[in-house]
This record gives sequence, C-alpha cells and structure tokens, in this order.
Amino acid sequence: MTQYSSSILSLPLPPSLESSFKSTKKKNQRQMELLSNQPMYQTVPEKYIFPPEKRMVKDIILHSVNLPVIDLRGGRVDAEGWCEIIGEIMKAGKEFGFFQVINHGIPEKTISDMLQVCDEFFKMPAEEKAQYYSNDLSKPFLLNSSTTYDKSETRYWRDYLRLVCYPIEEVIDAWPEKPENFRAVLSEYTLQVRELSSKLLKLIAEGLGLDKDYFGGDFSTGKTQMNINHYPPCPDPSLTMGLLPHCDRHLITLLAQGTVSGLQARYMEGWINVEPIPNAFVINFGHQLEIITNGMLKSVEHRAVTNSAIARTSIATLIMPKTDCLIAPAKELLNENNPPKYKEFMFTEFLKAYDAASASREDVLEFFKLN
Ligand code: OGA
Ligand code: NI
Repeated sequence: MTQYSSSILSLPLPPSLESSFKSTKKKNQRQMELLSNQPMYQTVPEKYIFPPEKRMVKDIILHSVNLPVIDLRGGRVDAEGWCEIIGEIMKAGKEFGFFQVINHGIPEKTISDMLQVCDEFFKMPAEEKAQYYSNDLSKPFLLNSSTTYDKSETRYWRDYLRLVCYPIEEVIDAWPEKPENFRAVLSEYTLQVRELSSKLLKLIAEGLGLDKDYFGGDFSTGKTQMNINHYPPCPDPSLTMGLLPHCDRHLITLLAQGTVSGLQARYMEGWINVEPIPNAFVINFGHQLEIITNGMLKSVEHRAVTNSAIARTSIATLIMPKTDCLIAPAKELLNENNPPKYKEFMFTEFLKAYDAASASREDVLEFFKLN
C-alpha cells in the first residue's frame, strides 16, 4: 500500500491528483508531532510533563543489582555446557524475568547496521517521513510519536516505528525504500533475530522440561512485530518518560539497545538499570510465556527513561503467537500442587482485552485468571 503511494508520487500525475497528493502530504506533515523533527528543545514542553506520581525521581534505583548476563558461547557448547546455559536462563528467568545474552551468534555488523539505518530513518527530512506517519495500528509499517495505547493527555518522550517484520515476503513492500538499504538491513536483522529467538525458546522449553520444540509452532510463528524506539535528548529527564512502565503482551522480546542506557526493569520494590553491553540482546518474557508456564516465568514491568546528553535508539523484536493460537498453561507443567492459574483463550482475545484495558493494561492478566 505504502509502496504504491510512494512509487506513484514519482510519476507525473494529472494536476488534480497531484494537488491532492501534495495536500495529503502537507496535512500529514502538519499533524506530525515528531520529536525528531524539532530542533533540540531547551526546556520540556508542558505536554510532555508527567504528573509527579508518574515521574521516575520518586523511585528507588537498585544500583547494586545487575541483570544476569548469559554467555551463549557462540553455540560451541557440549551437552554439559548446554545444561549450564539452560540452568542460567531458568534462574535468571525466575528471579528477574529479564536477562542479557552475549556471544549469541548474531554478527555485530547485523546489529550495528540495523541501529544505524534506524537512526538514519529518524534523521530524514520531515517531508520524507510524512508518508509513514499514521495512527492506524492495522498498518504493517507506521511512524508515530508518544504512544497510541495510553489515552491519557501527557505525551511520551519517544518517536517510534511500529512494523511487522515476519513473514518478510508478506510485508517487505510496506517497508520504506529510504534510507537506501533499509529493506535489506531489516530483512537480514529479522532473519537473525528470529533464529536467535528460536534457539532461546528451545532452551527455555528444555529448562521447563517440555519438548524442545514446544514453542516452535503456532506459539511463535504469528506476525513478528518490531518497535523501533527513538528517544532524542531530553532537557530534563526528571519531568518526562520515554516509555511508562508496561509489560510486553507477546511471547518473548529481544531488545537491542545500542550503547546508550535508558531501559529499567522492575525488581522487588525498585528498578534496575539495564546497562548496555555492546552487541548484547536484552531478553524478557511476555504475558503469553507467563501464562503458558503457569506463572513460573514472569512477564516483568519495564520502562524507558530519557537522558539529556545523547539520542537513544532501541529495537524491540516481539515474537507473537498466531492470532488463532490457543494459549493455556502447559498441561505437562500442571499437577495437584500446581493447578492451572489461567483459563484457555485464543491469542486474539488477549489482544482485544489488552487494547480495551488501555491505561490499566497491567491488570489484563486478571481477565484470564481462574479463581
Ligand atoms: C518496548 C520497550 C524498551 C526500550 O518497546 O516494548 O520496552 O528500552 N522498549 O526502549
Ligand atoms: Ni516493552
């Protein structure tokens, strides 16, 4: 759809159509409230200032706690080594719901090219980006700012791309042709990250005592979504937030956050800074994995804070079940000491409940709990 309109723009158009395209473009540009289109702000505009209870300053930051870093050793591991890795994943998963992986097998260049091409996208002129700006969540590629799911007044200090990246051949035509290598870089990154997600899901399944391919079918082959978050420098990070606390609703998230910190994960009564490690991926579990494991692996709240010095770009890849996939606690994990905590539902029902819950979406798991 997007490709159609962009390619048509480069053809000579009849004057009537030409002016209508120009005015749509202009209208989009006028409505487009992107932080990345602004010169650097000197102060935080009123509409980005959160009420005091939503700011981070009141919170405890647990500086002495770090997320576990799991070394996948480039896959060159014997059976004993795999057992150790699985043990580390389960321990981190149960305690934090979050961990980082290094030596995961994805080439550095794939990650750095992806971060770079995303930065280049946000740096493009406003008129080039305008064609992608949209509030229509059914689009496979869209550019926006703040968020569409929080209906409250305050805007988040965040621009983002929200795109579907898998199956690639079904969506590639909706991806931008500029920056020039965007499609090629995104395709490669998608393939690599999906492969890493499959490896991790196998290790998690083994750690749970399930068949290693337990998550391989409909649980993980829905449309993979990417959130490419861009947080420009913020003159006063104490007043606003890049992303408010939320849990991810899918199966599992793989996040590349470059070298700039900003991600914080909930831990006990406070928050942990997830320190960037070059080329690492931050892994966290989504609501579906919490439900399938009957609460053994938790979907943990996290948020993004801003900083005043440097722009931050992060790429979250969200592995999703197929929409008609039935989700329920795995029977193999249940027994009389561990009765099911959740009812069975179709993934699409979950997404509907999540959207309807709007600001209180952290309570969404409640809808699916058995008494
Ligand atoms: C997300 C997310 C964190 C970050 O996109 O869901 O949690 O560090 N991003 O940008
Ligand atoms: Ni998230």
